[in-house]
Amino acid sequence: MTQDEAKALVGKRAAQMVENGMAVGLGTGSTSRMFIQALGARVQNEGLKIRCVASSDASTELGRSLGMEVVTLNELPELDLYIDGADEVAPGLALIKGGGAALLREKIVASAAKQFVVVVDSTKIVPHLGKFPLPVEVIKMALPLVERRLADLGLNPKLRMLKDGSGPLLTDEHNYILDCHCGVIEDPEVTAAEIRSIVGVVEHGLFLGMASLALVAGDDGVQELHS
Ligand code: A5P
Repeated sequence: MTQDEAKALVGKRAAQMVENGMAVGLGTGSTSRMFIQALGARVQNEGLKIRCVASSDASTELGRSLGMEVVTLNELPELDLYIDGADEVAPGLALIKGGGAALLREKIVASAAKQFVVVVDSTKIVPHLGKFPLPVEVIKMALPLVERRLADLGLNPKLRMLKDGSGPLLTDEHNYILDCHCGVIEDPEVTAAEIRSIVGVVEHGLFLGMASLALVAGDDGVQELHS
């Protein structure tokens, strides 16, 4: 099974978890895109009645283009279910997220949901977090300060650039991303607390104690991991 086939499989499986009348959080990234497409197909074909909040402008647009009702958290502050991808999934469902630069809104939408389900292909399962660079969202003005503080912590931050190299990437909230190439994160709770204590940091991509279920697609189909 290719990685894209695995993402499509798990996206479809996650879409089956959604029930009529639910308030649903839509994640961001290529796996979430598969989920949103599968959910959109259910809305169109089965007349499933749901309301959604999305974790990025891109997912908002995609959902609406599929005929889904995508509103703001202001209109729908409590969600039944949030479904999103991840860059790494470690034991206990400790996650790194933010490869798609949406970590801030992702963490907000995840926090508004009763249940957060992660959808990944099996390449995302790791014994320890940290091989994937840990994204940190930073207020523009604070960039030099935060960069120095992260470097002092040994986290090796690099400013994320646009793919064409024309300038720094800006998040949906108009902040910068520093990707920390830190290697294995021995104690994610400690690292999360250290990063959070830096003035100018808006959010980081460690999602700890938030997800309760991971759906993992691989050659054997979809497996469930519980926190
Ligand atoms: C978006 O900011 C991320 O948190 C994504 O959920 C994560 O990068 C996984 O993306 P893919 O599903 O594209 O691998």
